[in-house]
Amino acid sequence: MEVLELFLSAVLAAAFCLSPSLVHAQDQSGFISIDCGITEGSSYNDKITGIRYISDENYTDAGVNKNISPKINTTGIDKQYLNLRSFPDGNKICYTLKPLRSKNKYLIRAGFLYGNYDELDDVPKFDLYLGVNWWETVTLTDASTPFTTEIVHLLSSDSIDICLVNTGFGTPFISVLELRLLDDRTHSNVSQLVVGRVGCGLALSHLIRFSVDVYDRIWSPFRLQDWEVKQTSYAIESPDDDKYGVPSAIMQGAAVPINQSDPIVLPITRDDPTTQVFLYLHFAEIENLPENQTREFNIYVNNKLWRGPIVPQYLQRTTVSSITALEGSEITVSIEKTINSTLPPLINAIELYLVRKLLQAETYEDDVHAVMNIKSYYKVKRYWQGDPCGPKTARWQGLNCSYDAYDPPRITSLDLSSSGLTGEISPDIFNLKMIQYLDLSNNSLRGSIPDFLSHLPYLRVLNLSENELSGSVPSELNERSKNGTLILNVEKNKLLCSSDCKNKAIVPVVATVIPVVILVLIAVSIFWFCKRRNQDTNSGGVNEHTRAPKLNERHFSYSEVLTITTNFGTILGEGQFARVYHGYVDRTQVAVKIFSPSVAQAYKQFSDDAKLLTRVHHRNLVTCFGYCDEDSNRALIFEHMINGNLEHILLDRNANILSWQERLQIAKDVAQGLQYLHDGCRPPIIHGNLKPTNILLNENFQAKLADFGLSKILTIEGSTREYIDPEYYVTSKLTERSDVYSFGVVLLAIIASRPVIDGDQEQAHIIQWASTLLGRGDIKGIVDSRLQGDYLLDSVWKAVELAMACASRASIKRPAMTQVVMALNHCLAMEISRVDRSEGTIEMVSVNFGTGVVPQAR
Ligand SMILES: *[C@@H]1O[C@H](CO)[C@@H](O)[C@H](O)[C@H]1NC(C)=O
Ligand SMILES: *[C@@H]1O[C@H](CO)[C@@H](O)[C@H](O)[C@H]1NC(C)=O
Ligand SMILES: *[C@@H]1O[C@H](CO)[C@@H](O)[C@H](O)[C@H]1NC(C)=O
Ligand SMILES: *[C@@H]1O[C@H](CO)[C@@H](O)[C@H](O)[C@H]1NC(C)=O
Ligand SMILES: *[C@@H]1O[C@H](CO)[C@@H](O)[C@H](O)[C@H]1NC(C)=O
Ligand SMILES: *[C@@H]1O[C@H](CO)[C@@H](O)[C@H](O)[C@H]1NC(C)=O
Ligand SMILES: *[C@@H]1O[C@H](CO)[C@@H](O)[C@H](O)[C@H]1NC(C)=O
Ligand SMILES: *[C@@H]1O[C@H](CO)[C@@H](O)[C@H](O)[C@H]1NC(C)=O
Ligand SMILES: *[C@@H]1O[C@H](CO)[C@@H](O)[C@H](O)[C@H]1NC(C)=O
Ligand SMILES: *[C@@H]1O[C@H](CO)[C@@H](O)[C@H](O)[C@H]1NC(C)=O
Repeated sequence: MEVLELFLSAVLAAAFCLSPSLVHAQDQSGFISIDCGITEGSSYNDKITGIRYISDENYTDAGVNKNISPKINTTGIDKQYLNLRSFPDGNKICYTLKPLRSKNKYLIRAGFLYGNYDELDDVPKFDLYLGVNWWETVTLTDASTPFTTEIVHLLSSDSIDICLVNTGFGTPFISVLELRLLDDRTHSNVSQLVVGRVGCGLALSHLIRFSVDVYDRIWSPFRLQDWEVKQTSYAIESPDDDKYGVPSAIMQGAAVPINQSDPIVLPITRDDPTTQVFLYLHFAEIENLPENQTREFNIYVNNKLWRGPIVPQYLQRTTVSSITALEGSEITVSIEKTINSTLPPLINAIELYLVRKLLQAETYEDDVHAVMNIKSYYKVKRYWQGDPCGPKTARWQGLNCSYDAYDPPRITSLDLSSSGLTGEISPDIFNLKMIQYLDLSNNSLRGSIPDFLSHLPYLRVLNLSENELSGSVPSELNERSKNGTLILNVEKNKLLCSSDCKNKAIVPVVATVIPVVILVLIAVSIFWFCKRRNQDTNSGGVNEHTRAPKLNERHFSYSEVLTITTNFGTILGEGQFARVYHGYVDRTQVAVKIFSPSVAQAYKQFSDDAKLLTRVHHRNLVTCFGYCDEDSNRALIFEHMINGNLEHILLDRNANILSWQERLQIAKDVAQGLQYLHDGCRPPIIHGNLKPTNILLNENFQAKLADFGLSKILTIEGSTREYIDPEYYVTSKLTERSDVYSFGVVLLAIIASRPVIDGDQEQAHIIQWASTLLGRGDIKGIVDSRLQGDYLLDSVWKAVELAMACASRASIKRPAMTQVVMALNHCLAMEISRVDRSEGTIEMVSVNFGTGVVPQAR
């Protein structure tokens, strides 16, 4: 019972600062201290802590200021809790904090006191989020008991959103929000919820925070029944180069067991036993021991020696901490004196943190950027705050998104109907590449219907009815509407020509975004084109024809081919249909592919294919500089790739072993090449013959695809059976998804460095082999053993799962290359930030040190 009382008093004290400490003019430069619900201009310095609190008016324009009920406003309540901001509207409200120093570790603390501010006597319950990840459910016990929660978090960008989410159990509100810069070295980079920060010898109801603690951590008293307290009035020194900064005032008291032979036992129980724990124990001898006395102890975790022997030094702090998180269904910490020790163990202070992985990814950056622009362009009057898609339960009203495990969510639907929009159709909509459903009906939009809407590949529903749009409907939209691939509604636009306009007025060019201009230009100028990608175009608006004029679309004579190859001097390789020779054009090394005369004769559309090839430019596709088409001499001139083909690198045991990251990078290069062929070219190009020998590497080991865009006949005949889509044998048709299948096989080969068909194995094909191992959960058995475990297992899991999904027998189960690229990006990011990801937060659910432990944050 005593213990329980102590617990309650500590919790109360956490919010109602009972212990005035001397107010020094201390540095608060790493602090943001917001008293929510006070007006701009009523900033103040707290009388007890000296901390300067400011209004939240600059952080949010939502919500209303409220005071707690006068009945509850009794003396002893901290000023920050007397008023609050309540948010009756909007399902998610965010405070965006921008500390001076980004990418540092911060303590973030939020406090709530309902105080019956609305006189409804109905305590609300709602969720608190850190960005898109759940931080805590705010669960208030009654109107007059505050709730505080703290998290240690490494900022990954220059700002952080703290969001209140209405979960249907009452109106969210907040009383106080604090951000404190910590010493970066103190904690692991994983986010951690503070569940206990206690001084074992602190006087009861004595609470310590700023300015005694320069980081404004709140320390509360804690002790167990079988402990006695010892105190000293002398200051306790910190070690040199101290990173914990535990104030001397905390260390000046210590607890020892009443029974001198007992250990100090701290059983840590958690609701979710898989939650990892970080523990910090602080010791200092506070008795000046005579010569014949010693205090020496060991620390055991679950009966296994963890640290020790430890001999605390007189008036000097020693800190013992977990470098890696502790785990296990039960964690019992026991501090026991050694045989030689004449005195029992002691403990001065304890810090306990819980880890929770922050797994939810933020919305795909390009989508966020686009929708933010749309929001500001139309001055959308909605509670659109924080991340558009996350958390899933509180995405922006009018949006829908795709959610796929670790991948960033993508915006798939935008409904801005009846929203009072004016102006033109925002060009930023074109950047919502995954959009399927777009409803802009019942607004006052003017101007014409932009062409780019017909280039949104996934658009299925387009509702532009009841606006003031003019001009004509782009013909491709009409066609898609007629053939049933698009539900189009353009009714009730008085100035709009119907689909078969006879006197088409000249449509004013409304597209202001460069990619749109390019699309339109190319669409009218040539039948077949590929989009330019922003990142490989410096000047933005360059047309295909004006790029690389020297080598582009160049027609070579046979005698030039002889010169280029110095009369076929050096052969690089030989295939079923052609030989490849080394050569030079200007001073650039090239590879010249000469078709065998019989193929050359049968290959009727050679010059069409060749012209087309010279127009395709992408950094993950081998460039075709030109061709020769003279009598029966047919040749293609390509960029020379110094590091040969991927098969050689994967299977040649003498080649350098590729690291996991390099493998992911190569896979991503290949995926991007395919994505471009599928989505960037119109009509799409099916590679049809993807295999490691067709993946070439340049001097930087950047991978590029070769052998695409040639006659289908050649492609299929020349293909290697084990990479071909099994559905091809049924349908005799190659589709984009056939390439995805081949990619899956190639990705497995990259992961495993194993031939696709291994004659020695029972499960001959790499897919069967991998799915057998996967069935046993033996992911390590799949990865090239030469990597010796030097990879992030999660990243490997994801890559293998991706490969298996790509290689699904049924083509509809295979992802599109865009999704593949995204997934690989994610694998790569995981691997790159392998060591200690900044992601992570906590499982809060109650944690206890056995019977008497103070989850101080509650
Ligand atoms: C709010 O912003 C205004 C204008 O930038 C500034 O003058 C004022 O000091 C800010 N107030 C607070 C409390 O930060
Ligand atoms: C709370 O009470 C104090 C005095 O007890 C008074 O000064 C203050 O204005 C009250 N605050 C609110 C929000 O009612
Ligand atoms: C101290 O603990 C030991 C071992 O548990 C026990 O035998 C002894 O009786 C205890 N002494 C007191 C005074 O409680
Ligand atoms: C230590 O020495 C003091 C006197 O110097 C004596 O009174 C005490 O009993 C001794 N304690 C032990 C544990 O030997
Ligand atoms: C105890 O002290 C003796 C004498 O100083 C020493 O030899 C022995 O190693 C110590 N034992 C332990 C477990 O520290
Ligand atoms: C959002 O999209 C998902 C998946 O496409 C769908 O199941 C769900 O019904 C949609 N929700 C709304 C509110 O449109
Ligand atoms: C169109 O919008 C107006 C207000 O903007 C609204 O009153 C009306 O109900 C909407 N009509 C439809 C069909 O949604
Ligand atoms: C388009 O919007 C109008 C007005 O908001 C609505 O009445 C109509 O049902 C919508 N049509 C489609 C196809 O969604
Ligand atoms: C429908 O028409 C569009 C635009 O012409 C075209 O791209 C698409 O392939 C057609 N789809 C079907 C199933 O015919
Ligand atoms: C923690 O993050 C910081 C900043 O991002 C980084 O410099 C540091 O290396 C990381 N520490 C570990 C152990 O990964």
